[in-house]
Amino acid sequence: MSDEVVLSVRDLEVSFGTKRGRAEVVRGIDYDLRRGETLAIVGESGSGKSVSTLALTKLIPIPPGRVTGTAHLGGELELIAMTEQELSRVRGQRIGFVFQDPMTSLNPVHTIGRQLTEGMRHHLGLSERDARDRAVDLLEKVGIPSPEQRLDDFPHQFSGGMRQRVVIAIGLSCDPEVLVADEATTALDVTTQAQITDLVAELQEELGMAVIWITHDLGVVAGIADRVLVMYAGEVVEAASAEALFARPRHPYTIGLQASLPVLGDVERHDLAAIPGLPPAPTALPQGCGFYPRCSYRDDERCATERPPLTQVAEGHWVRSFYEVPAEEAARAAAANRIVIEPPDARDEGVA
Ligand SMILES: Nc1ncnc2c1ncn2[C@@H]1O[C@H](COP(=O)(O)OP(=O)(O)O)[C@@H](O)[C@H]1O
Ligand SMILES: [Mg+2]
Repeated sequence: MSDEVVLSVRDLEVSFGTKRGRAEVVRGIDYDLRRGETLAIVGESGSGKSVSTLALTKLIPIPPGRVTGTAHLGGELELIAMTEQELSRVRGQRIGFVFQDPMTSLNPVHTIGRQLTEGMRHHLGLSERDARDRAVDLLEKVGIPSPEQRLDDFPHQFSGGMRQRVVIAIGLSCDPEVLVADEATTALDVTTQAQITDLVAELQEELGMAVIWITHDLGVVAGIADRVLVMYAGEVVEAASAEALFARPRHPYTIGLQASLPVLGDVERHDLAAIPGLPPAPTALPQGCGFYPRCSYRDDERCATERPPLTQVAEGHWVRSFYEVPAEEAARAAAANRIVIEPPDARDEGVA
């Protein structure tokens, strides 16, 4: 990882006009993404992970959506104020996307060769011949056997894991500075998940791009992220290096997320430790801390009425809570929940 910041986001806010009033779904997030860095954005479904990245290039409907704040790409371009036409040169070209379900990202009636070469011809101005050559290279890079023959195949002729590799190849095709992988392995089985995360890590090393890895599954980020943003109800509630976050989580929500991870040899634990309750509706956010209604550490006065600021508690470690989980308690949660997902063969043999 270098010190060069490729994407700098400040005070990003996204809301939607709805029948029940404005839904505030992203409530002011900040981060710097460096060349070669993997930033993980983690949180439950609905916490604003996808919208916070889709909004950068206006991949959300505006209106009813509204986006404020700034996002500087490569130190120069400010994305939020850009026109649609300017953004069309950023999307896919400078920021690549890989989404969860390869069947919806791929068009079933076109060959993957056509889908791979389209962006390169449009954005990079390559001839059909050159785009095809580059498509073969890309498919090879993402581990698709006999790439030359596969170019003329349709999406349904690939397995789920292979389709996701094709989608990654498309995401990489214009050599983006930033690749956003949004639940990119969620639909895949555990073994294929591991292959895809390894693949992205390898490609990142080789190509030097920065990756934003979005997932609801804290377990997935353990081996791949440099930094982690934990989101809850549209806010970052904890931000730290992956190392610090796993060694010493501090926000009660992060502790709860860790506690809901499956533990090797202790399958029961998964359900027992899950956080009770649901996140607040974005049209009816609590007046105080967003996590207050579900927090087991809350104090009923301050937490209910005041919104805690994001505060630096150690070098590079930020927490949005009035209550800091004591070190021993956090250590116990971290130790009890080693981030180990049972290997599939152990599961088959009934070892776990
Ligand atoms: N087009 C839209 N109109 C209204 N609300 C939306 C729209 N898109 C997303 N939302 C809301 O924004 C919130 C955050 O969504 P999202 O970013 O997709 O969550 P995550 O990716 O963390 O699961 C959710 O409450 C969702 O219902
Ligand atoms: Mg999402």
